[in-house]
Amino acid sequence: MSAALGRHFARLVTNAVVRRPLLWRLFRAPLRTQFDRLAPRWDAMRGPEHLDPLEAALAALRLSPARVLDVGTGTGDAAAAVARRFPQADVVGVDLSAAMVETARGKHPGLRFEQADASRLPFEDGAFDLVVLANAIPFFDELRRVVAPGGWVVFSFSFGPGTPIYVERGRLERELSRRGFMEFADFSAGRGTALAAKLQ
Ligand SMILES: C[S@@+](CC[C@H](N)C(=O)[O-])C[C@H]1O[C@@H](n2cnc3c(N)ncnc32)[C@H](O)[C@@H]1O
Repeated sequence: MSAALGRHFARLVTNAVVRRPLLWRLFRAPLRTQFDRLAPRWDAMRGPEHLDPLEAALAALRLSPARVLDVGTGTGDAAAAVARRFPQADVVGVDLSAAMVETARGKHPGLRFEQADASRLPFEDGAFDLVVLANAIPFFDELRRVVAPGGWVVFSFSFGPGTPIYVERGRLERELSRRGFMEFADFSAGRGTALAAKLQ
């Protein structure tokens, strides 16, 4: 699959799954194959600014989380950014792609990475004070389940609406509000955007 086709496929899957999470069963295997293939060159495909919107959100929120999850961690850079900002926190990054997880472990030996599907996370209810998703497909019911009361979720998109895996802001707020999130806060950095929300 060419890079352009891969980006279109990622957007198609994101749009489909956000609206109809049950469709994930059709897309899981091909998307995992796509990211397994991309893992060796993933870092070369991104600029140094790709996490700027996430960093902007984390800097502004003034949190002190003890337990943090990075969903769709890829090569682990968002998890590493979170660990640098909150050195007291226990940080874990999860990804569907075994090749991404292996790469993340090699790059960030002090951090914990696990292969897991965001649609069925291997964590207890309320296990995290903060969950971050950098350019990752959200599964809202699972997010709601693993965030602790009073905890936060932060979505970031490196190129705003131009990001291949992107969820429109209104959709994010609607899906989160209906699951008890509130206190929405928007951030931007260059072309990148982020949205944070707090669980009641
Ligand atoms: C666009 S990449 C983003 C990687 C990284 N967060 C970054 O910003 O560089 C999306 C990542 O999500 C992973 N992914 C896709 N669907 C997933 C799922 N259901 N559960 C866990 N990870 C998933 C992919 O394997 C890929 O590594």
